[in-house]
Amino acid sequence: MIKELLNKYGSPLYVYDKDILINRCNEMVNFKNKLENNLNINVSMHYSMKANENLSLLKIIKDCGLKIDSMSELELYLAKLAGFNKEDILYVCNNITEKEMESVHDNNILICLDSISQVETWGKNFPNSNIMVRVNTGILGVGHSDKVITSGEVTKFGIAISDINELFNIIKKYNLNIIGVHEHLGSLFLNDKMDNYLKGIESFLKVVVSYFPSVEIIDLGGGFGVPYKDEDRLDLNLLCKKLTDLLKQYIKQLHLKEIKFEPGRYIVCECGKIYGRVTSIKKDYIGTDIGMNVLIRPEMYDAYHKIELFPKRDTKIITTNFCGNICESGDILGKERVVNTPEIGNSVIVYNAGAYGYSMSSNYTGRLKCAEVLIDNDKDILIRKRETIEDIINLQK
Ligand SMILES: Cc1ncc(COP(=O)(O)O)c(C=O)c1O
Repeated sequence: MIKELLNKYGSPLYVYDKDILINRCNEMVNFKNKLENNLNINVSMHYSMKANENLSLLKIIKDCGLKIDSMSELELYLAKLAGFNKEDILYVCNNITEKEMESVHDNNILICLDSISQVETWGKNFPNSNIMVRVNTGILGVGHSDKVITSGEVTKFGIAISDINELFNIIKKYNLNIIGVHEHLGSLFLNDKMDNYLKGIESFLKVVVSYFPSVEIIDLGGGFGVPYKDEDRLDLNLLCKKLTDLLKQYIKQLHLKEIKFEPGRYIVCECGKIYGRVTSIKKDYIGTDIGMNVLIRPEMYDAYHKIELFPKRDTKIITTNFCGNICESGDILGKERVVNTPEIGNSVIVYNAGAYGYSMSSNYTGRLKCAEVLIDNDKDILIRKRETIEDIINLQK
Protein backbone atom coordinates (compact mmCIF):
# COMPACT_ATOMS: atom_id res chain seq x y z
CA MET A 1 0.00 0.00 0.00
CA ILE A 2 2.81 2.43 0.95
CA LYS A 3 4.77 1.76 -2.23
CA GLU A 4 1.64 1.95 -4.37
CA LEU A 5 0.63 5.28 -2.85
CA LEU A 6 4.11 6.72 -3.36
CA ASN A 7 4.11 5.53 -6.98
CA LYS A 8 0.66 6.93 -7.58
CA TYR A 9 0.96 10.31 -5.83
CA GLY A 10 4.70 10.90 -5.61
CA SER A 11 7.05 11.21 -2.66
CA PRO A 12 6.99 12.57 0.00
CA LEU A 13 3.30 12.30 0.76
CA TYR A 14 0.99 13.14 3.66
CA VAL A 15 -1.51 10.31 4.30
CA TYR A 16 -4.47 10.59 6.70
CA ASP A 17 -6.64 7.83 8.12
CA LYS A 18 -10.29 8.89 8.27
CA ASP A 19 -11.25 6.35 10.98
CA ILE A 20 -8.59 7.61 13.36
CA LEU A 21 -9.64 11.21 12.74
CA ILE A 22 -13.27 10.39 13.48
CA ASN A 23 -12.29 8.48 16.63
CA ARG A 24 -10.37 11.44 17.98
CA CYS A 25 -13.21 13.84 17.18
CA ASN A 26 -15.66 11.51 18.94
CA GLU A 27 -13.44 11.39 22.01
CA MET A 28 -13.50 15.18 22.18
CA VAL A 29 -17.28 15.22 21.69
CA ASN A 30 -17.69 12.65 24.51
CA PHE A 31 -15.46 14.76 26.74
CA LYS A 32 -17.59 17.81 25.95
CA ASN A 33 -20.85 15.91 26.63
CA LYS A 34 -19.61 14.57 29.96
CA LEU A 35 -18.44 17.98 31.13
CA GLU A 36 -21.72 19.49 29.98
CA ASN A 37 -23.69 16.94 32.02
CA ASN A 38 -21.47 17.35 35.06
CA LEU A 39 -21.66 21.14 35.06
CA ASN A 40 -25.02 21.72 33.46
CA ILE A 41 -23.56 24.33 31.17
CA ASN A 42 -22.90 24.41 27.41
CA VAL A 43 -19.43 23.26 26.40
CA SER A 44 -18.04 23.87 22.89
CA MET A 45 -15.08 22.23 21.23
CA HIS A 46 -13.55 24.55 18.64
CA TYR A 47 -11.06 22.60 16.53
CA SER A 48 -7.95 24.78 16.30
CA MET A 49 -7.36 24.63 12.57
CA LYS A 50 -3.78 25.91 12.72
CA ALA A 51 -2.89 22.26 13.42
CA ASN A 52 -4.14 21.24 9.97
CA GLU A 53 -6.34 23.23 7.64
CA ASN A 54 -6.99 20.73 4.88
CA LEU A 55 -10.53 21.33 3.65
CA SER A 56 -11.51 17.65 3.44
CA LEU A 57 -10.38 17.05 7.02
CA LEU A 58 -12.25 20.17 8.17
CA LYS A 59 -15.46 18.80 6.65
CA ILE A 60 -15.05 15.51 8.53
CA ILE A 61 -14.35 17.37 11.77
CA LYS A 62 -17.44 19.51 11.24
CA ASP A 63 -19.60 16.45 10.56
CA CYS A 64 -18.44 15.04 13.90
CA GLY A 65 -20.01 18.04 15.62
CA LEU A 66 -17.04 20.22 16.41
CA LYS A 67 -16.89 24.00 16.05
CA ILE A 68 -13.76 25.81 14.87
CA ASP A 69 -11.10 28.32 15.87
CA SER A 70 -9.33 30.27 13.14
CA MET A 71 -6.58 32.86 13.29
CA SER A 72 -6.08 34.29 9.81
CA GLU A 73 -8.19 35.39 6.87
CA LEU A 74 -7.36 32.24 4.91
CA GLU A 75 -8.27 30.03 7.86
CA LEU A 76 -11.55 31.91 8.23
CA TYR A 77 -12.26 31.51 4.51
CA LEU A 78 -11.53 27.77 4.67
CA ALA A 79 -13.68 27.33 7.78
CA LYS A 80 -16.63 28.91 5.98
CA LEU A 81 -15.92 26.87 2.86
CA ALA A 82 -15.94 23.69 4.94
CA GLY A 83 -19.46 24.64 6.02
CA PHE A 84 -18.97 25.92 9.56
CA ASN A 85 -21.66 28.43 10.58
CA LYS A 86 -20.48 31.91 11.49
CA GLU A 87 -21.64 31.48 15.08
CA ASP A 88 -19.49 28.34 15.36
CA ILE A 89 -16.31 30.12 14.26
CA LEU A 90 -14.10 31.91 16.73
CA TYR A 91 -11.22 34.18 15.70
CA VAL A 92 -8.39 33.92 18.22
CA CYS A 93 -5.67 36.17 16.88
CA ASN A 94 -2.43 37.89 17.77
CA ASN A 95 -1.12 41.24 16.49
CA ILE A 96 -3.39 41.58 13.47
CA THR A 97 -3.83 44.61 11.22
CA GLU A 98 -6.82 46.93 11.13
CA LYS A 99 -7.70 45.49 7.73
CA GLU A 100 -7.82 41.97 9.12
CA MET A 101 -10.03 43.14 11.99
CA GLU A 102 -12.35 44.68 9.43
CA SER A 103 -12.68 41.38 7.62
CA VAL A 104 -13.50 39.53 10.88
CA HIS A 105 -16.04 42.20 11.76
CA ASP A 106 -17.63 42.17 8.30
CA ASN A 107 -17.95 38.41 8.52
CA ASN A 108 -19.74 38.78 11.85
CA ILE A 109 -17.31 36.48 13.65
CA LEU A 110 -16.60 36.69 17.37
CA ILE A 111 -13.04 37.91 17.88
CA CYS A 112 -10.72 37.27 20.80
CA LEU A 113 -8.21 40.13 21.19
CA ASP A 114 -5.03 39.74 23.11
CA SER A 115 -3.53 43.13 23.87
CA ILE A 116 -4.67 46.53 25.08
CA SER A 117 -3.57 48.14 21.84
CA GLN A 118 -5.51 45.62 19.72
CA VAL A 119 -8.61 46.32 21.83
CA GLU A 120 -8.07 50.07 21.27
CA THR A 121 -7.74 49.54 17.49
CA TRP A 122 -10.87 47.41 17.43
CA GLY A 123 -12.80 49.86 19.63
CA LYS A 124 -11.90 52.85 17.41
CA ASN A 125 -13.22 51.00 14.37
CA PHE A 126 -16.11 49.06 15.86
CA PRO A 127 -17.46 50.77 19.00
CA ASN A 128 -20.48 49.24 20.78
CA SER A 129 -19.53 45.68 19.80
CA ASN A 130 -18.98 42.35 21.58
CA ILE A 131 -15.46 40.99 22.00
CA MET A 132 -13.54 38.35 23.88
CA VAL A 133 -10.17 39.09 25.46
CA ARG A 134 -7.23 36.84 26.11
CA VAL A 135 -5.55 37.25 29.48
CA ASN A 136 -2.22 36.11 30.80
CA THR A 137 -2.37 35.38 34.51
CA GLY A 138 1.43 35.21 34.71
CA ILE A 139 1.45 31.57 35.76
CA LEU A 140 3.79 29.40 33.70
CA GLY A 141 1.85 27.44 31.07
CA VAL A 142 2.43 23.90 29.83
CA GLY A 143 3.82 22.69 26.52
CA HIS A 144 6.29 20.37 24.82
CA SER A 145 8.74 23.21 24.17
CA ASP A 146 9.34 26.75 25.47
CA LYS A 147 8.33 27.90 21.99
CA VAL A 148 4.74 26.76 22.52
CA ILE A 149 4.25 27.72 26.16
CA THR A 150 2.01 30.76 25.89
CA SER A 151 1.41 31.82 29.47
CA GLY A 152 3.89 33.07 32.03
CA GLU A 153 5.85 36.13 33.03
CA VAL A 154 7.52 36.43 29.65
CA THR A 155 5.19 35.89 26.72
CA LYS A 156 3.83 37.91 23.82
CA PHE A 157 0.32 36.62 24.47
CA GLY A 158 -2.57 38.00 26.44
CA ILE A 159 -3.36 41.00 28.58
CA ALA A 160 -1.43 41.03 31.84
CA ILE A 161 -3.39 41.40 35.07
CA SER A 162 -1.50 44.64 35.80
CA ASP A 163 -3.04 46.09 32.61
CA ILE A 164 -6.64 45.21 33.37
CA ASN A 165 -7.60 48.68 34.67
CA GLU A 166 -6.33 50.19 31.44
CA LEU A 167 -8.34 47.57 29.53
CA PHE A 168 -11.51 48.62 31.35
CA ASN A 169 -10.85 52.31 30.49
CA ILE A 170 -10.68 51.43 26.79
CA ILE A 171 -13.75 49.22 27.03
CA LYS A 172 -15.65 52.14 28.55
CA LYS A 173 -14.32 54.65 26.03
CA TYR A 174 -15.66 52.64 23.06
CA ASN A 175 -18.61 51.04 24.83
CA LEU A 176 -17.31 47.55 24.09
CA ASN A 177 -18.83 44.51 25.76
CA ILE A 178 -16.46 41.77 26.93
CA ILE A 179 -18.61 38.67 26.56
CA GLY A 180 -15.81 36.17 27.01
CA VAL A 181 -12.37 35.68 28.51
CA HIS A 182 -9.75 33.36 27.07
CA GLU A 183 -6.57 31.68 28.12
CA HIS A 184 -4.40 29.19 26.24
CA LEU A 185 -1.62 27.84 28.42
CA GLY A 186 0.40 26.14 25.70
CA SER A 187 0.50 23.13 23.44
CA LEU A 188 0.78 19.50 24.60
CA PHE A 189 0.32 18.28 28.10
CA LEU A 190 -0.08 14.61 29.06
CA ASN A 191 -0.94 12.96 32.38
CA ASP A 192 2.34 13.97 34.04
CA LYS A 193 1.56 17.65 33.46
CA MET A 194 -2.20 17.45 34.06
CA ASP A 195 -1.91 19.07 37.48
CA ASN A 196 0.21 21.91 36.07
CA TYR A 197 -2.47 22.46 33.43
CA LEU A 198 -5.18 22.52 36.12
CA LYS A 199 -3.12 24.95 38.20
CA GLY A 200 -2.99 27.26 35.18
CA ILE A 201 -6.73 26.91 34.67
CA GLU A 202 -7.35 27.65 38.34
CA SER A 203 -5.30 30.85 38.24
CA PHE A 204 -7.32 31.85 35.16
CA LEU A 205 -10.63 31.12 36.92
CA LYS A 206 -9.55 33.28 39.87
CA VAL A 207 -8.88 36.15 37.46
CA VAL A 208 -12.27 35.66 35.79
CA VAL A 209 -14.08 35.70 39.16
CA SER A 210 -12.18 38.77 40.37
CA TYR A 211 -12.24 40.92 37.23
CA PHE A 212 -14.82 39.53 34.79
CA PRO A 213 -17.61 38.07 36.95
CA SER A 214 -20.37 38.84 34.46
CA VAL A 215 -18.91 37.27 31.28
CA GLU A 216 -20.96 34.68 29.38
CA ILE A 217 -18.05 32.66 28.01
CA ILE A 218 -14.77 31.32 29.31
CA ASP A 219 -12.38 29.75 26.83
CA LEU A 220 -9.76 27.39 28.22
CA GLY A 221 -7.79 27.03 24.97
CA GLY A 222 -6.16 23.85 23.68
CA GLY A 223 -3.13 21.82 24.66
CA PHE A 224 -4.54 18.26 24.96
CA GLY A 225 -1.54 16.10 24.17
CA VAL A 226 -0.99 12.81 22.37
CA PRO A 227 1.87 10.37 22.93
CA TYR A 228 4.64 10.64 20.32
CA LYS A 229 6.96 8.07 21.89
CA ASP A 230 5.82 5.59 24.49
CA GLU A 231 4.02 7.88 26.93
CA ASP A 232 0.58 6.92 28.29
CA ARG A 233 -2.43 8.39 26.51
CA LEU A 234 -3.96 11.46 28.10
CA ASP A 235 -6.55 10.18 30.58
CA LEU A 236 -9.58 12.13 29.38
CA ASN A 237 -11.87 10.62 32.05
CA LEU A 238 -9.56 11.76 34.82
CA LEU A 239 -9.10 15.16 33.19
CA CYS A 240 -12.86 15.55 32.88
CA LYS A 241 -13.35 14.63 36.53
CA LYS A 242 -10.63 16.98 37.76
CA LEU A 243 -11.86 19.82 35.55
CA THR A 244 -15.42 19.24 36.79
CA ASP A 245 -14.32 19.49 40.43
CA LEU A 246 -12.29 22.62 39.73
CA LEU A 247 -14.84 24.38 37.56
CA LYS A 248 -17.66 23.65 40.04
CA GLN A 249 -15.86 25.70 42.69
CA TYR A 250 -15.68 28.76 40.49
CA ILE A 251 -18.62 28.79 38.09
CA LYS A 252 -21.14 29.21 40.89
CA GLN A 253 -19.65 32.70 41.33
CA LEU A 254 -20.15 33.47 37.62
CA HIS A 255 -23.02 33.82 35.16
CA LEU A 256 -21.59 31.66 32.41
CA LYS A 257 -23.50 30.41 29.40
CA GLU A 258 -20.65 28.53 27.78
CA ILE A 259 -17.21 27.01 28.30
CA LYS A 260 -15.06 26.70 25.19
CA PHE A 261 -11.99 24.60 24.41
CA GLU A 262 -9.71 24.78 21.36
CA PRO A 263 -8.06 21.40 20.80
CA GLY A 264 -5.89 21.19 17.70
CA ARG A 265 -3.22 18.51 17.98
CA TYR A 266 -5.45 15.97 19.75
CA ILE A 267 -7.87 15.88 16.83
CA VAL A 268 -5.53 15.50 13.87
CA CYS A 269 -2.10 14.39 15.05
CA GLU A 270 -2.44 10.63 15.09
CA CYS A 271 -4.42 10.25 11.87
CA GLY A 272 -1.53 11.65 9.80
CA LYS A 273 1.66 9.99 8.55
CA ILE A 274 4.29 11.01 6.06
CA TYR A 275 5.47 8.50 3.51
CA GLY A 276 8.83 9.13 1.87
CA ARG A 277 11.84 7.35 0.46
CA VAL A 278 15.39 6.50 1.40
CA THR A 279 17.56 8.42 -1.05
CA SER A 280 21.06 7.79 0.30
CA ILE A 281 22.89 5.84 2.96
CA LYS A 282 26.17 6.73 4.61
CA LYS A 283 27.82 6.01 7.94
CA ASP A 284 25.60 7.43 10.69
CA TYR A 285 23.01 8.87 8.30
CA ILE A 286 20.04 7.67 6.29
CA GLY A 287 19.17 10.35 3.76
CA THR A 288 15.49 10.74 2.84
CA ASP A 289 13.30 13.10 0.83
CA ILE A 290 11.49 14.17 4.05
CA GLY A 291 13.29 17.40 4.77
CA MET A 292 12.55 20.11 7.32
CA ASN A 293 10.45 21.77 4.62
CA VAL A 294 8.05 18.78 4.85
CA LEU A 295 8.10 18.40 8.66
CA ILE A 296 9.72 21.19 10.66
CA ARG A 297 8.89 19.87 14.15
CA PRO A 298 12.09 17.84 14.75
CA GLU A 299 14.27 20.80 13.71
CA MET A 300 12.19 23.52 15.35
CA TYR A 301 11.22 21.88 18.65
CA ASP A 302 13.59 18.93 18.82
CA ALA A 303 10.38 16.92 18.59
CA TYR A 304 10.38 13.13 18.43
CA HIS A 305 8.46 11.33 15.67
CA LYS A 306 8.50 7.57 15.38
CA ILE A 307 10.10 6.49 12.08
CA GLU A 308 9.86 3.10 10.37
CA LEU A 309 11.33 1.63 7.23
CA PHE A 310 9.37 -0.46 4.78
CA PRO A 311 9.60 -3.24 3.75
CA LYS A 312 10.85 -4.80 6.96
CA ARG A 313 14.27 -6.32 6.28
CA ASP A 314 16.32 -8.91 8.06
CA THR A 315 19.60 -7.02 7.68
CA LYS A 316 22.20 -5.76 10.15
CA ILE A 317 20.81 -3.58 12.94
CA ILE A 318 22.36 -0.12 13.04
CA THR A 319 21.96 3.03 15.14
CA THR A 320 21.65 5.92 12.77
CA ASN A 321 20.23 9.39 12.14
CA PHE A 322 17.45 9.99 9.65
CA CYS A 323 17.87 13.24 7.77
CA GLY A 324 16.26 15.21 4.96
CA ASN A 325 17.51 16.88 1.79
CA ILE A 326 17.89 20.49 2.99
CA CYS A 327 21.15 22.41 3.33
CA GLU A 328 21.12 22.77 7.11
CA SER A 329 22.81 20.60 9.71
CA GLY A 330 19.61 20.84 11.71
CA ASP A 331 17.70 19.02 8.99
CA ILE A 332 17.51 15.85 11.07
CA LEU A 333 14.24 13.93 11.09
CA GLY A 334 15.18 11.48 13.83
CA LYS A 335 18.30 11.09 15.93
CA GLU A 336 19.94 7.82 16.96
CA ARG A 337 17.31 5.42 15.69
CA VAL A 338 17.86 1.68 15.79
CA VAL A 339 16.81 0.10 12.48
CA ASN A 340 17.69 -2.66 10.03
CA THR A 341 20.02 -1.40 7.30
CA PRO A 342 17.79 -0.23 4.45
CA GLU A 343 18.26 -0.10 0.72
CA ILE A 344 18.00 2.99 -1.46
CA GLY A 345 14.38 3.32 -2.54
CA ASN A 346 12.91 1.71 0.60
CA SER A 347 9.93 3.55 2.03
CA VAL A 348 10.06 5.65 5.19
CA ILE A 349 7.04 6.20 7.43
CA VAL A 350 6.93 9.10 9.88
CA TYR A 351 4.14 8.80 12.46
CA ASN A 352 1.98 11.39 14.22
CA ALA A 353 2.45 13.95 11.49
CA GLY A 354 -1.17 15.10 11.19
CA ALA A 355 -0.78 18.13 13.46
CA TYR A 356 1.60 20.99 12.70
CA GLY A 357 2.96 18.92 9.82
CA TYR A 358 1.63 20.06 6.47
CA SER A 359 0.39 23.34 8.01
CA MET A 360 3.96 24.28 8.95
CA SER A 361 5.56 22.98 5.76
CA SER A 362 7.31 25.35 3.37
CA ASN A 363 9.03 25.78 0.03
CA TYR A 364 12.46 26.21 1.60
CA THR A 365 15.23 25.52 -0.90
CA GLY A 366 12.70 25.37 -3.70
CA ARG A 367 10.95 22.18 -2.62
CA LEU A 368 7.33 21.86 -3.65
CA LYS A 369 4.69 21.15 -1.04
CA CYS A 370 3.46 17.55 -0.81
CA ALA A 371 0.20 16.03 -1.93
CA GLU A 372 -2.22 14.88 0.78
CA VAL A 373 -4.24 11.67 0.59
CA LEU A 374 -7.14 10.46 2.74
CA ILE A 375 -7.60 6.75 3.38
CA ASP A 376 -11.31 6.06 3.68
CA ASN A 377 -12.26 2.38 4.00
CA ASP A 378 -9.26 1.20 1.99
CA LYS A 379 -9.94 3.79 -0.70
CA ASP A 380 -7.26 6.44 -1.27
CA ILE A 381 -8.60 9.88 -2.10
CA LEU A 382 -6.37 12.74 -3.18
CA ILE A 383 -7.37 15.66 -0.93
CA ARG A 384 -4.63 18.08 -1.95
CA LYS A 385 -2.63 17.98 -5.15
CA ARG A 386 1.13 18.20 -5.05
CA GLU A 387 2.27 21.76 -5.68
CA THR A 388 3.73 22.41 -9.11
CA ILE A 389 6.48 24.71 -10.33
CA GLU A 390 3.75 26.66 -12.19
CA ASP A 391 1.91 27.29 -8.90
CA ILE A 392 5.02 28.99 -7.58
CA ILE A 393 5.93 30.83 -10.78
CA ASN A 394 2.43 32.21 -11.24
CA LEU A 395 2.81 34.29 -8.10
CA GLN A 396 5.95 35.99 -9.36
CA LYS A 397 6.77 38.59 -11.97
C1 LIG B 1 -4.87 30.17 20.96
C2 LIG B 1 -4.64 28.74 20.68
N1 LIG B 1 -5.65 27.88 20.84
C3 LIG B 1 -5.51 26.57 20.57
C4 LIG B 1 -4.31 26.06 20.13
C5 LIG B 1 -4.21 24.59 19.83
O1 LIG B 1 -3.32 23.96 20.67
P1 LIG B 1 -3.17 22.38 20.62
O2 LIG B 1 -2.91 22.01 19.23
O3 LIG B 1 -2.04 22.09 21.53
O4 LIG B 1 -4.46 21.82 21.14
C6 LIG B 1 -3.22 26.91 19.95
C7 LIG B 1 -1.93 26.38 19.49
O5 LIG B 1 -0.90 26.90 19.58
C8 LIG B 1 -3.39 28.30 20.22
O6 LIG B 1 -2.39 29.15 20.06
